[in-house]
Amino acid sequence: MCGIVGFIGCKPAAPLLLEGLAKLEYRGYDSAGIALVENGQITIHKAKGRLSVLSDRIRGGDGIEATVGIGHTRWATHGKPSDENSHPHKSASGRFAVVHNGIIENYAALKKELQSDGVEFLSETDTEVIAHLIERSYTGDFLAAVRAAIQRLEGSYALGVLCAEHPDEFIAVRNASPLIVGLSEIGNFIASDIPAVLAHTRRVIPLADHEIVRLTRDAVTVFDQAGHPVEKKEMTVDWDVTSAEKGGYDHFMIKEIMEQPQALSATISPRIDADGGIVLDGIHLTASQLRKVNRLFIVACGSAYHAGVVGKYVIEKLARIPVEVDLASEFRYRDPIVDEKSLVIIVSQSGETADTLAALREAKRRGARVLSIVNVVGSTIASESDDVLYTWAGPEISVATTKAYSTQLTMLYLIAFYIAHKLGRIDDRDQRRLLSALIRLPDMVSGILRQAGELKQLAQRYAYLEHAYFIGRNLDYAVALEASLKLKEISYIHSEAYAAGELKHGTISLIEEGTFVVALACCEKLIEKTMSNIKEVKARGAEVLVLTTDDNRDVLPEADHVLYIPKTNDLLMPSLEVVPMQLLGYYIALARKCDIDKPRNLAKSVTVE
Ligand code: G6P
Repeated sequence: MCGIVGFIGCKPAAPLLLEGLAKLEYRGYDSAGIALVENGQITIHKAKGRLSVLSDRIRGGDGIEATVGIGHTRWATHGKPSDENSHPHKSASGRFAVVHNGIIENYAALKKELQSDGVEFLSETDTEVIAHLIERSYTGDFLAAVRAAIQRLEGSYALGVLCAEHPDEFIAVRNASPLIVGLSEIGNFIASDIPAVLAHTRRVIPLADHEIVRLTRDAVTVFDQAGHPVEKKEMTVDWDVTSAEKGGYDHFMIKEIMEQPQALSATISPRIDADGGIVLDGIHLTASQLRKVNRLFIVACGSAYHAGVVGKYVIEKLARIPVEVDLASEFRYRDPIVDEKSLVIIVSQSGETADTLAALREAKRRGARVLSIVNVVGSTIASESDDVLYTWAGPEISVATTKAYSTQLTMLYLIAFYIAHKLGRIDDRDQRRLLSALIRLPDMVSGILRQAGELKQLAQRYAYLEHAYFIGRNLDYAVALEASLKLKEISYIHSEAYAAGELKHGTISLIEEGTFVVALACCEKLIEKTMSNIKEVKARGAEVLVLTTDDNRDVLPEADHVLYIPKTNDLLMPSLEVVPMQLLGYYIALARKCDIDKPRNLAKSVTVE
């Protein structure tokens, strides 16, 4: 939430800041701004709306010669989107400018204190207190002033700070919001995420919490909380630059949907050894440690939580261990019964989601072992977990996740097989059978992606409906949760997912002539039951789209339209089912002319509670 960038070097900063912000717009896009040091003064350009509004206003930075600056793209927390509330924020004298990602929890008390000292506030943001606090601590030493100010802050913050009197440097800080340094031939950068610097460098230094960095044109010095210089290791990013570009597609979302076969292969292949066994590189749990585990928790937010619901069905079925799936925002405050006999699996694409991170810390505090499934290498969740398994989905830019969700599923399958095998609940033969089905998933997904044209056409038919219900049983229900979220978050159609058997306990009263119902009917042993539910909604006038497997060709006369997908092992069906559901959501949103990669009010990386 909110993206920050900074640059100091030998080239004009403004175009570079705008370019970096464009790569961070997934983090927030309700307003944007940049600050530059020019002729001993700070100049700020900021505007409500998409980055393009700011960029057009300053003609892409053309003619702005300053070579040091900071920038921000915002997802509003304190104060509505407006020019005034956009970052950067200046201190009263105009000597300092600040960009911030995070939330200052004690900002109200600090604001009151500053106001009673006569400071006038120009915005409703929590960030503005930081600029004034730095100003108040300043006696000529820029770094010391920033250090003194942050000692007063409670909450989360990644900051970029400029000082008019120090045109040859700027300072950045990280505490619980992500921040990296990029080292390049043309100068040094900071950014909330790697794609913002990828066009100029692959040399990156991820900062740890409480670290402060001073950047000059040719040097970067990192300090710890006590102000001592810290030796940091440089990391070389091996992504292809184009992996964070649209590459000819209209939206990142469709590009990422289409990338799923490769993402699945990249996640599965390294985990299967030459003898057909599972190698979970990031797990150091022995069989005897596993035998002591009496309860498993899967904790996550959003689509990662939905992947967890699939994980529960599969792990319980194969490993016969009770699994609870929890929303991280609930888990952290519900006094969960978690102890050293619990294994907590944290699932997160970004590895930075505030509630998920807090849930991880809560689990560890209670003595549980924490295993995380994360996509972003070196993220906070990855670095704080006991064991980490990376999903190798590559950078995911679209706010609505697709390939990250799919790779989370495969990681959960591998964990389920691994635990079940280690506990002796499945034998070598069972494991081989499951793995051979898993290995075939990427090709099967490729086959389903070839049905995109059919889904595009079908989407025209449903594009102007205002309500949708997704129903299914067991694993079909788990997928219905994700299918429904996918549709609603990008198309703004009201949509709900229901366990098909639960519909009659209230929600069926909403079904009337023309109500759109998507029935997922892939779970073989429950197909008859789901069919009955389809008949029930059909009898009340619903327009029913059914998703089922090839072998059910003649059994669904009730449906208005049927989508067929190939069949695999029942437990793995979610990996196939979700793909047409992603395409359906995408093409409906496209037909409704929605801003697919940047849905209203959302952000990809949710670093606030
Ligand atoms: C946001 C994203 C979702 C994601 C959720 C959790 O809401 O839009 O796609 O599932 O955050 O994010 P995480 O990075 O922890 O998986």
